[in-house]
This record gives sequence, C-alpha cells and structure tokens, in this order.
Amino acid sequence: MAAGLPLAACIVAFHLCLLLSPSTALRRLSEAESSVARHGVGIRPAYHFLPAKNWQNDPNGPMYHNGVYHLFYQYNPLGATWGAGNLSWGHSISRDLVNWAALDTALDPTAPFDNNGCWSGSATILPGSIPALMYTGRIDAGKEVQVQNIAFPKNPADPFLHEWVKPAYNPVIRLPIDVPGDKFRDPTTAWVGGDGLWRIAVAAKVGGPSGIASTLIYRSKDFRRWKRNALPLYMSHTADMVECPDLFPVAEPGVEEGRLGYTSEMASGVLRHVLKLSVMETTQDYYAVGRYDDVVDTFVPEMDDERNVDDCRTWRRLDYGHMYASKTFFDARKNRRVLWAWANESDSKDDDIAKGWSGVQTFPRKVWLDKDGKQLRQWPIEEIETLRSKQVIYWLEAQVNAGGVNKIVGAGAQVDVEAIFEIPSLEEAETFEPNWLLDPQKLCEEKRASMPGGVGPFGLLVMASDDLREHTAIFFRVFRHNHNYKVLMCTDLTRLINPWWRALEEGGGHASRHECTLSMRKTTTARCLCSITGPAS
Ligand code: FRU
Repeated sequence: MAAGLPLAACIVAFHLCLLLSPSTALRRLSEAESSVARHGVGIRPAYHFLPAKNWQNDPNGPMYHNGVYHLFYQYNPLGATWGAGNLSWGHSISRDLVNWAALDTALDPTAPFDNNGCWSGSATILPGSIPALMYTGRIDAGKEVQVQNIAFPKNPADPFLHEWVKPAYNPVIRLPIDVPGDKFRDPTTAWVGGDGLWRIAVAAKVGGPSGIASTLIYRSKDFRRWKRNALPLYMSHTADMVECPDLFPVAEPGVEEGRLGYTSEMASGVLRHVLKLSVMETTQDYYAVGRYDDVVDTFVPEMDDERNVDDCRTWRRLDYGHMYASKTFFDARKNRRVLWAWANESDSKDDDIAKGWSGVQTFPRKVWLDKDGKQLRQWPIEEIETLRSKQVIYWLEAQVNAGGVNKIVGAGAQVDVEAIFEIPSLEEAETFEPNWLLDPQKLCEEKRASMPGGVGPFGLLVMASDDLREHTAIFFRVFRHNHNYKVLMCTDLTRLINPWWRALEEGGGHASRHECTLSMRKTTTARCLCSITGPAS
C-alpha cells in the first residue's frame, strides 16, 4: 500500500482483520502469475459474507427474528456460475451480523410452482412472530413463467428456522396477462396500510416486451389471496426492466429511528419513504426520497435538482462500485435500517470456476436520511470493528510531498483503513460546478488520479505492485462550493492487471470502474474509512 499524492500530513490507521491468514498475508504476486492464482490461493475475502463454495447473487429475505439474524441469498448449489434453473435460497444465521453459520438451503426448486429456480424475494414477520418468505418461482412450462410464492418455517419454535415449507396452494400470485413470462419478480417485504391490508410490491414489465417498467402493488387481508392495484407504485417509460424493488420509511432528520423504520409500519411521524430500484440494463441501484401515499399506494419522488422522475436511471446511485440487487431490513436489535447488496466481483467465468466461488455480499451498512432530507447516508455497521485484531498507525507528516508516494509495507492482507488527511490550505481549491452532482462518476472519469488539480488528488494506492504498475487509487479532490467545500472521492480501477479487467478496459465497456461519493465537509480535515480485502501490502 502506498499513501501518495500531495498533502501536508496524513495519519493512516490499519486495523488488521481477525480472519487474516498470516501465511497468505505477505504473499506477493507478480504480474506473471495467473489471475486464477491471484484469486484462488488464499485470497478469499474475510470481511465479506460468502458461502463456503459456489455461486451467490442477490441478498434475499434479511431479517432479525428472536435474537437471530438471518440472511438468505441466491445460491447455485451445483457450481460457481449462475445457473438460472438451479437457484436455491442459501441460508445463514448470525447473532452479530459479522460471524455467520451456514445452514442447509431454505428453498430449492423442487415444486411445480418453482421447478426452474427459486428467485429473489423478501421476509415479513407476521403477527404472532411468524416469518413468511415471499419469493419468485420460475416455472418451466414450455416457456418461462414467473410467479410469486410463499413459504413458512416448518417449526416456528426452532430458534434457527432450519426448515421451510411451501404450501401446496402456491403460487399466491400468478403471472398477470399483461406481463411477459420472464418479467415478473422479486417481491418486497410486506407492509400494512391505513386500511389494515397487507401490501407488497413486485417488479414487472407491463404491456408486452416493449412495455413499461413498473413496480406493481398487491394487497391482501390474509397474506394468501392477493389482488393487484389498478395503479403501480411507480413506473418508468424510459428505463427497461427494473428488479428487486425496496420501499422503506425514513425517519426525518433529528427523529429517532425507533419503530419508524419498519417497512410494515405506517407509524405517525413518517413523512418520507425511499424507493430503491435495481435497473437491469445498467446493473446499478438507484433510489429516490419521496412521498408514499398509502391510500392509493403510489410513490412520488421529490426531486431537488434536474433529475428526471420518470427515468430512474437519473436518480441518486446507492453506490458507485460493483453492487446490485440491494435489500434493506429493519434491525430491531439496534433500531437501525441495514442494507445488504450483492457485489459480483467481476471475475471471468473461468476464474470463478477455478476459485470455486463467485460473488460476495457487501459488508452490511447502516442507512439513514441525511439531515438535508434529500439523500441517504450509509456507513459499515459498527460491528465491523470487532473484526479488528491489531492496529497499526502511520504518521506521515512532511513525508508526503507533492507528487510523492510513501510506501507502507506489512499492513496486512485484509485491512480496514482509516485515514485522516490534513490539508494546510484550501486557497487553490477549484470551483465546483453544480451540475457535477448529477453524475459524480463522470467527474471521476474526467479527472483521473493522474490529473493535477487545485487541492488534490491525494489519497491511497492499494493493491499496489512494487513498481506501482498495478494499483487501485482511492483518491480525493477538494472543491470550493458556495461558501463551503465539497470533497470528491473516487476509485480508479483502470490499473488492475487482471486480464479479464484489462479486456473490459480495452473494450471501454465497464461503466463502474470508478467509484465515488460526494460529501460536504465543513473543516479542512477530510476523513475516510475504506474496507479493503485482498493483499494491501
Ligand atoms: C437480480 C436478479 C433478480 C432475480 C435474481 C435471479 O440480480 O436478476 O431479478 O430474481 O437475480 O437470480
């Protein structure tokens, strides 16, 4: 790891991960080594959730129930590639969201109503503390048909809910006639409206293959018979298919999260909701803060700038990295909303097969409404700190000069990095153009790590080879904005040497190779925390 780029002083604290294997930590991989060796031997992520082997994608039905966290996930028990027809619900449990025990799969494609895959869905805790799983069953009926099914624990008194049963009355929601068979999926957690009825939202393309990307609402009295609303929760004429919708209330700034956070509560005091949509054509997650009306079940985004209500691809991004199909749940243990998402790692199919696994879940993040009431804030849950075994602090005052790079060796293979950059003067900060807010990723692409600026770039080069030909730059720039400053944080993945990545780079085809967030800072001290897995030394 190298701390580089101009600034006056920098403190970098490395928190080594408890799960680190010392024999692999110091392993140095030369450019000549194959990417399989890079990924397959000893560089298995330790911070992030992944099953012992095989493919995983979306997080499904996360919940906290009777003192236990449950995480289900799209899982292919037969291999490290996707395999639409094989998909099961993997199931793991935890007491702290950090240490997980794997159970047998909860749902497998064994019934006539899901024989071609148990696809994504959600959990809802029903009165009497009975959890229910709603999921998409994929049926092979000559052509693909997607339906929505329900499952309950075989023994609700089992503290770990090992076994799940699917009632024979499934599917509970059949494919509507105006929706193509392959475009009806991913039911949300249910909630109760003012009329006492349950509601769920389901992603669908309405009106044939070139129809409208919609999020349909179904209502039910008994959680078994569901009726579609005339109006969708939201529709977009510009996006193609949306997937994995998530609707949740947010506590107004300054209000305790408390029970307001339950999706199934329309408690007094909830003014605004967040609708998150995963857009298939961009494989990105977008969200809007807005007003949900539980009389007609519609969601209207509140736009504070030029973003387009109809085109959810212009909404705020939840993340700029490789993350998709996110899903939140309300964590009653700590009164917070927690977000899970799938990070697909983006290795080649061959590499995945050689590694024996593919896909991780992002580290769980707490999400809340920012005090400006316009955007979400997120941070890794505080439990991440329990993974820290040893702290190494570097004080780099005066050693980091303009254009200079400071090498930090032996930090470890799996580290949490907290860096504090102290900038002596912001005199040279360039002016921030307001429309840059609409697409910070573009700004990161235009102002790469190597392009000099007023204040910045400065930051860290991680996963760096000795000659620095290979590295990932996590870098910052400070801009002047009104009478304040904005900090742009970017990640530049274009200097990775993995051949698969290089091919994407040469094809110019990878939209998310720069990750960034924008945030307002009042002082001249920028603080950042990055979780880095893989060899950081
Ligand atoms: C999103 C998604 C969902 C679907 C699942 C299948 O990544 O395509 O729409 O239910 O994955 O694995």
